Amino acid sequence: MTRPCNDTFLRALLKEPTEYTPVWLMRQAGRYLPEYCETRRRAGSFLQLCKNPALACEVTLQPLARYDLDAAILFSDILTVPDAMGLGLYFTEGEGPRFERPLREEWAIRDLTAPDPWHHLRYVMDAVAEIRRALNNSVPLIGFSGSPYTLACYMVEGGASSDYRCIKRMLYERPDLLHHILSVTADAVSAYLNAQIESGAQAVMIFDSWGGSLSAAAYQEFSLPYLQRIVAKLIVESGGERVPSIVFTKGGGLWLESIADIGCDAIGLDWTIDIGEARRRVGHQVALQGNLDPGVLFASADRIADQARRVLDSYGPHSTGHVFNLGHGISQFTPPESVTALVEAVHSHSRLSRTGSE
Ligand code: CP3
Repeated sequence: MTRPCNDTFLRALLKEPTEYTPVWLMRQAGRYLPEYCETRRRAGSFLQLCKNPALACEVTLQPLARYDLDAAILFSDILTVPDAMGLGLYFTEGEGPRFERPLREEWAIRDLTAPDPWHHLRYVMDAVAEIRRALNNSVPLIGFSGSPYTLACYMVEGGASSDYRCIKRMLYERPDLLHHILSVTADAVSAYLNAQIESGAQAVMIFDSWGGSLSAAAYQEFSLPYLQRIVAKLIVESGGERVPSIVFTKGGGLWLESIADIGCDAIGLDWTIDIGEARRRVGHQVALQGNLDPGVLFASADRIADQARRVLDSYGPHSTGHVFNLGHGISQFTPPESVTALVEAVHSHSRLSRTGSE
């Protein structure tokens, strides 16, 4: 397997020198793009879109046709894994994801098994392979999964939650049951990510979106060890190329040193931490990905450029190991032209500050 023509993103994750700072955006294919809404309408629903490899490939490529992005991300969802475990995923308008059979009873928890990704999640592997063919080695493709704790939140709560009362009750009353869910889910996630790598994913990202809702002690017990277990089992090289891993714990700014120690190549940062401070804390142990406030994209092109430069300058204009991103997914209300302004500002400012140093 050869590296993509534009391998800036992979080089930044491996802390190799790059001519400019690469950029991609979490949820870059989504409802802020009119062409995405059109394909989603043709698919019938979000879930049908995810389960149709040709259409999933089409929407993955849409943001790359519009913007000069340095990576593509598989179009799918983190909740495909619990769906494949038999929980019955569905989406309701305005309410987000829900499960028909949330995990509440001990017998159901004891019955939980890790799905075979090549069988139950075949449509994801087919999408990865189809996207790789369509990209034709232009930019790298990122595969992803949810973290065991984040998936468990949805599995136990049965959907999004503002207070996590079911899973927190389980965590404090029956930690043995929660550990069982997390352990089966960690096995499911490592098999799922490795199947994506074997299908052609060139980097992988684990979304620990709700890890930040835990206390420091609970994070150390219920999220971090499972992230570590997954990272330890990941295929590190495919076709002679390293496959870097990124771990993103939203709200994990206080725990960066412990996240850096689990062996991932990069840490994703939300926008609440100064990226320069994060860099000083983890040193050169890992690359950093982030971390512009997604709300900046509601401002004018000039303000967007200013704020992007702040992030770049704070990281250190001549430093290796930075992938530019938002601190969380792009909002569906983002004006599409804001992304043009952002990508252009990141590329031109980072290029300028590199040549300025010569
Ligand atoms: O980044 C990308 O472009 C890849 C696609 C992607 C989606 N979801 C598409 C999606 C990725 C990486 C995800 C991850 C995901 N899904 C996470 C972790 C990241 C995060 O945001 O913290 C989580 C928690 C989910 C679960 C999920 N899926 C929720 C809460 C929702 C509803 C959100 C909303 O805005 O309504 C989804 C649906 C979803 N996943 C959409 C997209 C584009 C919107 C669905 C639609 O078209 O209606």
